[in-house]
Amino acid sequence: MINELMFSNITDTVINCRTQAISKFDENIRCKPLLKWPGGKASELSEINPRIPKHERYFEPFFGGGSVYFDSINKPSYINDTHPDLMMFYKLVKSQNTKFCLLLDNFISEWNTNKNEREAIYFKIRKRYNDAKRITIEKAVDFFILREYAYGGMFRLNLKGEFNVPFGHNYVNKDIQKKIDYLSSSSVLKKLKRAEIYNLDFQCFTNKFKFNKNDFMFVDPPYHCSFSKYDKDDFGVNDQERLANYLLNFRGKFMLVIQYTDLIKELYKSDKLNIYIYDKKYKFNIKGRFNRSVKHALITNYDTNI
Ligand SMILES: C[S@@+](CC[C@H](N)C(=O)[O-])C[C@H]1O[C@@H](n2cnc3c(N)ncnc32)[C@H](O)[C@@H]1O
Repeated sequence: MINELMFSNITDTVINCRTQAISKFDENIRCKPLLKWPGGKASELSEINPRIPKHERYFEPFFGGGSVYFDSINKPSYINDTHPDLMMFYKLVKSQNTKFCLLLDNFISEWNTNKNEREAIYFKIRKRYNDAKRITIEKAVDFFILREYAYGGMFRLNLKGEFNVPFGHNYVNKDIQKKIDYLSSSSVLKKLKRAEIYNLDFQCFTNKFKFNKNDFMFVDPPYHCSFSKYDKDDFGVNDQERLANYLLNFRGKFMLVIQYTDLIKELYKSDKLNIYIYDKKYKFNIKGRFNRSVKHALITNYDTNI
């Protein structure tokens, strides 16, 4: 995990490389996620968004690709995930760190070659990413490139904790310059300007705040009983219990999205909660790990009026 000291160093040494007029807060800015992330909620926004209540502050402890955050009203926001490279990446985009921008430009030059060489470059970057022990700006750039070009947008680690997804040939002609330009677009920067970024376990993150009824927390943890490994550690039954205990006493408004299993039914068996169930169809069925269609539950501690 990135410690807070490292994070603040990045902010302090930042020199903006692409200056933008982002002085005014615009509440209506909405954008798309900056990278592909497994378990992303982009295809479920029509279920989620109409049920988000009016709020003053937005919290997201399991941020991932942040599809709900990027699509929702632009309020002061507090975003967190345990994945260190992911959160370092957002921090660097937010600050438009000079070295980060330069490394992305260097990648564009290197990528300007034929298809076969592109595959070799992907594997070179994958090896460098796996070999890197520390969380650095270079590693965050490699992480972003791997997210862009990994087969099926998958995120998979082997037993040694190494990222081992092969090259996604169908992305070989993707307009990466357009994507990189998007990372410094005014809509993305206006959104992130209002966000504080953390890299902590969800409970250490939530412990930092005093919540009130005008706060909204969108909660999208790894699912229990399916692929839930985003890093070396699993989010196991104990973590699901820890989360349920926390949410049942939460003082603000929360919306939890989760696969509806027997454990989840048991943990959220409270007449103070609203539970709405819908079908979720998965695009990929990876070695039988997913049922193609499963029930998702949207659990709130407020009335959604729908
Ligand atoms: C289902 S994904 C979130 C997807 C996100 N809502 C989106 O639209 O892309 C769950 C996230 O929880 C993160 N995570 C796993 N364990 C965690 C923990 N203990 N505390 C905080 N985040 C954790 C994972 O790294 C992963 O990004």
